[in-house]
Amino acid sequence: MEKTFVMVKPDGVQRGLIGEIVSRFEKKGYQLVAAKLMTVSRELAEKHYAEHKEKPFFGELVDFITSGPVFAMVWQGQNVIAGARQMMGKTNPADAAPGTIRGDFGISVGMNIIHGSDSPESAEREINLWFGEQELITYDKTI
Ligand code: CMP
Repeated sequence: MEKTFVMVKPDGVQRGLIGEIVSRFEKKGYQLVAAKLMTVSRELAEKHYAEHKEKPFFGELVDFITSGPVFAMVWQGQNVIAGARQMMGKTNPADAAPGTIRGDFGISVGMNIIHGSDSPESAEREINLWFGEQELITYDKTI
C-alpha cells in the first residue's frame, strides 16, 4: 500500500490544527501508520529540505521548521501521495483553493501549515529520514 510523509508545521501545531488535519485524513479513508510530536534539529531540517539548499529562503525555512514542535506522520492508502497533496492545496495559501488545508488555514508561503511528500521517491526518502522501520504500524487488514 502506498505511503506518504505528512507533517503539521510549527504554525499548525501552535494554532491547534493537529486534530483538524488528522480528522480530514481519517475521513478521507487514509490510515495513520506512524505519528510523533517532536522538535526538529537543524541537522534533520537541513536534510529534509536539502533540495532547497541553494534557494534564497533556505535559512528562513530551516529557522521556521526548527522554531517549535511539529507533528510528523506517515499515512497510507491508495494514491495517498497525490491525494494528500490535493487535500493540502497549493504551496502558497494565497493560491490554494477553499476546502484545502492551506486554502482554509494557511497564512503565507512560509507559514503554510503542512508539508507532504511530492513524489514516491520523496515519500520513501522522507519516511526513512523521519521514522525508523520499527515505528511504522502494519495493519492485518486494510480497507
Ligand atoms: P513545503 O511543502 O514544506 O516544501 C518547501 C517549503 O518551502 C514550502 O512548503 C514552503 O513553505 C517553503 N517556501 C516555498 N517558497 C518560499 C518562499 N518564497 N519563501 C519562503 N518559504 C518558501
